[in-house]
Amino acid sequence: MTQITLVEGDITEQRVDVIVNAANSSLLGGGGVDGAIHRKGGPEILADCRRLRASHYGKGLPTGRAVATTAGRLPARWVVHTVGPVHLPDEYERRAELLASCYRESLRVAAELGARTVAFPAISAGVYGWPLEDAARIALTAVAEAVAESAGSQGQAEAAGVAEVRFVLFGAEAYGVFERVQRALEQGN
Ligand code: APR
Repeated sequence: MTQITLVEGDITEQRVDVIVNAANSSLLGGGGVDGAIHRKGGPEILADCRRLRASHYGKGLPTGRAVATTAGRLPARWVVHTVGPVHLPDEYERRAELLASCYRESLRVAAELGARTVAFPAISAGVYGWPLEDAARIALTAVAEAVAESAGSQGQAEAAGVAEVRFVLFGAEAYGVFERVQRALEQGN
């Protein structure tokens, strides 16, 4: 059964198979997590992103989708880039579904690569303005549902799926919010 863990820290320092990047559709870098990953991972990541743009994603990676590149100099094997939705209250439902899709699609891509450990940031909860508590609820719910589904469908043969999904929260406040939301979800409310 996949373990879901919360840590406070910097996602670029996580020793995992996959680090998930909160990218934008250009895949050509930015600030926040995106900036940190490209800065520490080095130019190979951007070179891979450029190749993806030139081949499959001429118009950019759509919101809610995920794609893998090398992790360059990061202590990971791959970076899975996903594009979160910008928070917009009057399109809440559709965008909340796109945010959940970021987690599901990133997990699907990571599992296809054979990743055992996957680290997520709080997608859309920074520049894209999604309120942290709701971003946490959507993230934790989407991952728990994906994990339950894969446990149901996987026979013993495929038991070697993702062993750990790790949410890496930047700062004590974000960590506290995720911890509180996770506890509330576990108590069924
Ligand atoms: N490790 C873990 N979490 C981090 C790190 C880090 N090194 N740096 C920032 N964060 C946190 C932020 O505090 C926030 O909670 O990641 C969360 C997501 O914030 P952003 O990186 O701003 O991502 P997002 O809100 O999805 O906006 C994406 O920002 O950086 C640009 O190119 C990116 O256009 C895209 C947009």
